[in-house]
This record gives sequence, structure tokens and C-alpha cells, in this order.
Amino acid sequence: MESNDIRKAYLDFFQKKEHALIPSAPLLPENDPTTLFTGSGMQPILPYLLGEKHPLGTRIADSQKCFRAQDIEEVGDNRHTTFFEMLGNWSFGNYFKEEQIVWMWKFLTEKIGLDPKRLYFTCFQGNVVLGIPKDVQSAELWQKLFAEKGVEAKIGEHPETDGIRTGEHIFYYSEKKNWWSRAGVPGNMPLGEPGGPDTEMFWDFGATYGLHEQSVWKNDPCHVNCDCGRFMEIGNNVFMEYRKTEDGFEKLVQKNVDFGGGLERLMAAVQDNPDIFLGDIFDTLREKVETLSGKRYGVDPNDTYAFRILLDHIRASVFLIADGVSPSNTDQGYVLRRLLRRAIRFADTLGIAPQSLSLCVEAVTGQYAEAYPYLRLRQDMIVSVIDNEEKKFRETLVRGMRELERRQIGGSLTGQDAFLLFSTYGFPFELTLELAKEKGIAIDAVEFHKEMLKHQKLSRTGAEQKFKGGLADAGEQTVMLHTATHLMLAGLRKYLGDSVHQAGSNITAERTRFDFTYPEKVPREVLDQVEAYVNEAIAKGCSVTIEQMPKDEAKKAGVEGSFWEKYPDVVNVYTVRATDGSVYSQELCGGPHVADTTAITGTFKIIKEEATSAGVRRIKATLA
Ligand code: ALA
Repeated sequence: MESNDIRKAYLDFFQKKEHALIPSAPLLPENDPTTLFTGSGMQPILPYLLGEKHPLGTRIADSQKCFRAQDIEEVGDNRHTTFFEMLGNWSFGNYFKEEQIVWMWKFLTEKIGLDPKRLYFTCFQGNVVLGIPKDVQSAELWQKLFAEKGVEAKIGEHPETDGIRTGEHIFYYSEKKNWWSRAGVPGNMPLGEPGGPDTEMFWDFGATYGLHEQSVWKNDPCHVNCDCGRFMEIGNNVFMEYRKTEDGFEKLVQKNVDFGGGLERLMAAVQDNPDIFLGDIFDTLREKVETLSGKRYGVDPNDTYAFRILLDHIRASVFLIADGVSPSNTDQGYVLRRLLRRAIRFADTLGIAPQSLSLCVEAVTGQYAEAYPYLRLRQDMIVSVIDNEEKKFRETLVRGMRELERRQIGGSLTGQDAFLLFSTYGFPFELTLELAKEKGIAIDAVEFHKEMLKHQKLSRTGAEQKFKGGLADAGEQTVMLHTATHLMLAGLRKYLGDSVHQAGSNITAERTRFDFTYPEKVPREVLDQVEAYVNEAIAKGCSVTIEQMPKDEAKKAGVEGSFWEKYPDVVNVYTVRATDGSVYSQELCGGPHVADTTAITGTFKIIKEEATSAGVRRIKATLA
């Protein structure tokens, strides 16, 4: 089975279990100013786990594109990547442990054909202080499923000290391993954050697999959560039913299931090869890099490291650029710049000719032609972004090298000067270190980091002053105002004409601040009409529905949207419709919204209308 088949098998399986399939959200979170990238499948789903009604019901599944910038340094071993796909399914207060565990078992053992004898599971051992019980139910369910396949699976209570004893397949661990929240263990969770115990699934590559020969596991008791590489986590079922409070935990309004499984890791298990860079998902790209370098993957360990960095960084860059990121010295743009520049350096070490990186783009868009067809459509743009960045980098490399040599005194470079290379020439610090090493120049790293911290503080202040887009949180008030904002835009377009579009928005629990294109002051009478329009829709109790349609179709149908290029080819369209069928608003969006306008309390009021820049007006409005 290839990775495309695994993704499809998973989505088909959950669709048959009455899950609505949703497209992946973009890698740049839409309504979440707290993070630069979408890093897990549940991130865009959060509001619905907290009780918001999802327009497609209480069973949802998808394959979500994820990017974890914090893993850049980890890339190089056989399993770490910055970009990956997370297969996910969710129950919003619908099914719970029993269904999830039985389905997962069926999916793993029957749909993708994993041998039960090589599967292992972990469950939460409970914590009296936190008031969270031991998850005996999950452990016993797994045990029963093993028995049905003729495997007598024993349960281990202390895997970290006992290791795996004969016949054990299920283990209890503390909250350090079997608890999931966005912030990690219970002690790190901020107030209000949802989380819960989880049961994780592991694949055993076998005790004799090459890597372990030199690893520690033979001396230490090996267990599924040790780092020797024998076992790989292939999925996590989170039973998200708690929320952090001042003095512990309380139950959420509903019991949720949040499942996430890395597609690449499932592929590694199915193809029974722990090196995910040898999995089929990298075949075309790996072969391309082999052709360009004239070297074969896996022959020389130094080359293998460079290969892995190239494979990961090129794939991630293609996805990021397709989702609208361009190289820069700040935020997401800086992360992309780092990826590309590292890839170029490692391409050089493999002996790949300059200006060749963009030749690899097609290998990525081709591999994902079925699952993410929009990549192909943006191929020319991606190629040119990568080409330009490589060109620019090679120019600054020459200038920066000269500068490096000029500024060093007696074979050492001050932290300030190293920082200057970063800020002026866009040299990532590790690159400066590397180049300096080549030239036998020492760098004051401590001083450099101090400069960096100063810079970050400054740019953070800058970011706070920037007009932050989207919703400040997914609380009830904020979501109400979000739906009201859609209605307001529809009202503005009704009374001011179709040239009005959104130019930015910032919504908190207290107010919506909304920028739109219009050349002159909007008369108060018109604002009154717009207010009346919104309040009429609220009074009528309109439904808010979500529909997925091809982007072109949505455009043709006159759906309102300003950032079309940011969206995938299949888009979510939110429609506010009265019971008599009249449509009050139809707009491209990533949610969250109220399920119907009776959930909106208060009267919509436009407080202020003013100019913000040439051709753009700003409205402040509330529900009072
Ligand atoms: N949200 C869970 C994870 O990311 C499933 O592991």
C-alpha cells in the first residue's frame, strides 16, 4: 500500500462511519493569532471541541497539512520532518472510547493490514491528585480486540522499570506520556485549556532492526516510549473531556474524541521501514535529488543527513509557498527563508549545481497531484519564488563572506557582528557558525543570542502594533460577532456596491474592527441601513450553514471573499439564510460561526467609521 492509498483508506473508512470529510485548513492559521503555523490536526478544530456547533455535525475527519518549525533542528534522523500530514477524526460529544478503539483496531489490522502481533498500545495510569481515573476501559478494550485475533495480550503496569515482559502489548503510563493538550502535561496547561488522557498506538519494527544494534535498548529495559527507535508511535486517540480550572480540572460540556495519526508514520509501519525518507511519499523527490547530485541515498552517512534535510526542507517549502508564504526576515517568511537557505547549503555539500533547487518542485507537486491538486496549479509561482531566493542567497553569501572576513579580528567575530550578518544579509545563525568554522573563525555565541533577544523583543512590539487579523479567541461572544461581521459586510455591499471587499478584520469578545475597500466616508444613514440589515437577519433566526465547493464555482456563484489566493481549491462557504430561503450573506471563511442567528444576543451597533489608509475605511461595531 502506498501513502496515497493509506490516506484514502482512512478517509473512506471514516466517511463510511458517517464522518463528514473536510479539506485541510491552510498551513497558516486563519483565525488564530497565537501561532505561526498549523501544527496539528486539532488546531483548526478547537472551537468545536469546546462546544461550538460544527455546521457539518458531530463526526468529522480529514487529513491536515502540518508544519512544526521547532523541529527544523531535529531533521536528519530517520523519522523527523518539519512538514507532515496528520490524519484526524473527531467526535464532538458523539461517540467515545469504545467506538474509537474498535474502529482504530479495524482500520489498523484490516484496512491497512498491520500485523496485530506487532502492535502495542499505551493507556493513562490515572492520577489521584488530579482526580483523573485510570483508563482501565481502554486497556481492556484493546485486550479484548487482541484476543479476537488470537493474541493473548497482557497488560504491563510499570513499563519504564520492567521493560516489556513476555506477552505484554498494553502498558500504563503517567500523564507525562498519556495525556494530551496543546500545552502538554496538566501542569503546563493555561486556565481554560482543554485536554485529556489518551491511548497511543505503536508499531514494532523488531528487536533486530539495524539501528538497535548500536543503541542503548539492550542495556536499558526497552519499552514502547523509549527513544531507541524500535517502536514508532503511529497514532494518538485523545479523550478530550477536561478543561483546566484554578484548582484542577472540570468536565467539558461534552466528551470528545480527538484522533491524530501521522500519515508518514503509518506509511513507515505499512511499508515496514523505519526510515520514512525511504517511504514511497519521498520516492520521486529522492530520485530527483539522486539524479541532480549523482549520489545515491543511504550509501554514505554524511550524504544521508544532507539528503534528509533536502527532502524535508524542499517539500515543506513547496507547501508553505503554495499557502502564501514568501521568504523574508520575519515570522513565517523567516522560517521559509531558513528552510530554503539550509536546503541550498546542503545541496552544495551534495555537489548539486547552483540554481537547481527549483528543479525539485515538480517531484513534490507530482507526488501530491491527487490529494493536493492546487500545488500543480501554483507550480510556476513556487518555482520562481525558490529560484529568486536561491539567487538572492548566493549573492548575499558572497557579500556576507567578504563581510565575515573583514569584520573578524584575530580569528574571532563579535556577537554584534554575527548578528549584523543575520539582520543585514539574512544569514541564519547556524549558517554564520558554519561559514566561520570553515574559515577557522570563532564566534561569541552568547553575545549573539543576547542581540537576538533584543531584536525579538523589538519585533514582538512591532507585531503587537500591527493590525492583527482574525479572531482573538473562539469564545461565544467573539464567534457571535464574527457571524455579525459577515452580515455587516453583506449589508455594506448591498448599500455601497460590489466594489466593497474586506481588507482586514480583528474581532474580540467586545467588538469587531473591520477594514473594507471604499473611497470615501460612509454617510450615517447608510450605516443605519447596514445596522438594520444585520439586526433583521438576527431577528429572523437565520441558519448558518457551511458548504464545500470548488473555488471556481464559488467565485462564479458570486460568493464574497477577498483572499481567494489563500484558500485551497475546495473552499468552505458560509451562508446565512432565512427560513423563507432569502440569503443574507454568503462568504468564504474558515469559521467558527454560530449555528443560527438566534444564538446572537444583543443589538448590532456601528460605533465608528473612519479612514485608515487611502481607499480603505474602518468600522468599529458591537453587539449591545
Ligand atoms: N491532537 C492529538 C495530537 O496531535 C491527536 O497528537
